[in-house]
Amino acid sequence: MTPDRIIRTFVDFYRERGHLPLPESSLVRPPDDPVLFTTSGMHPLTPYLEGRPHPLGRRLANVQRCLRTTDLDEVGDRTHLTVFQMLGSWSLGDYDPPQSLRWGYQLLREGFGIAPDRLYATVFGGDEQVGPDLPALETWRDLGVPVELTQRENWWSNGPTGPCGPDSEIYVWTGDSPPSGTPGTDGRWLEVWNHVQMRYHRHDDGRLEPLRRPNVDTGMGLERLEMVLRGHGSVFEGDAFAPWVRAVTALWHPDESSLRRVCDHLRSSVVVVGDGVRPANTGRGYVLRRLLRRTLTILWRGDPTRTLSDLPDEPFADTLDRFRQTANVTGVRLLLQDEEERFRGLLRRGRRVISRYRSRAPLTGADYRYLHDTHGLPRDLVDGLLAEAT
Ligand code: ALA
Repeated sequence: MTPDRIIRTFVDFYRERGHLPLPESSLVRPPDDPVLFTTSGMHPLTPYLEGRPHPLGRRLANVQRCLRTTDLDEVGDRTHLTVFQMLGSWSLGDYDPPQSLRWGYQLLREGFGIAPDRLYATVFGGDEQVGPDLPALETWRDLGVPVELTQRENWWSNGPTGPCGPDSEIYVWTGDSPPSGTPGTDGRWLEVWNHVQMRYHRHDDGRLEPLRRPNVDTGMGLERLEMVLRGHGSVFEGDAFAPWVRAVTALWHPDESSLRRVCDHLRSSVVVVGDGVRPANTGRGYVLRRLLRRTLTILWRGDPTRTLSDLPDEPFADTLDRFRQTANVTGVRLLLQDEEERFRGLLRRGRRVISRYRSRAPLTGADYRYLHDTHGLPRDLVDGLLAEAT
């Protein structure tokens, strides 16, 4: 199944069950949102999960681009991405969580053809504030899906405050041998879909207050689903990464983990630029800058003479197209190339300046401040240059 077909199957399934397609939001959050990027399909729906009536009704579904800087250090393994697409469905005070789980099971089985013995579920086992999720437990038992009870892993929130609640996660077996163990004991069980009961609002002081109207919020990573449906070894074997992998390996020869990081960061940068972000020293622009600098640091270790301008247009165009973005390929490329030039210049100057500091390591806070304020060298770059020199 191609990613397009997966999206169509998902959206059609929910449309047949009364869910209207929710327009996708930009990755860039409005100024009153404390979070820089859209991190989940539910993120733009926060006021509606808190009780405001949604103009499109109480059943919604969509695919939403998301960015998670929290996963940045895990990128390089089989399944983590910085920017990814999330398939989501919502009941805004409408049907209950067991209904959501039943539909989820039906879609995975009938729509996507996943064999029942490759499925496992986890359910909230209860803590000192909220009891165990017995309706979810019963639903999975009825459906014949094995269940593991956990606490912290089965509670979802999009931040320290706001809507939150217990969740039930669906795992698919990705091993070559017959399924064994549980999601808690065997990493070959891969989490693909989370069904969250948005039943509480968490206040600043940690207190949980029940929402007037409980909701269901589900999210499933498109790239992970493609991986399990096509039997791939990692998300990077999917259609969306093929042009990046081809282009990068033709020019540089990074090891597998570096290749994954480079492809993830380049693709993420294109999507972020496509949503209007420009490199900067703070906020969203700094996330973009870091993604690009991490990429270039890896690539230049292999061959410092090549530049991003050696890449073909194909991966840029393919990514903008997959993320339904209208930005112009040449414009996006020029922006990344400018940033690359800037980074080269900074490194050139940085190496000269840092050579005077080598004998003084470890540097003091005042040294770092001076290097930053006078020479524009951020601390992580200074540390990198010092390490280079040893
Ligand atoms: N909001 C939930 C998640 O992102 C579905 O996992």
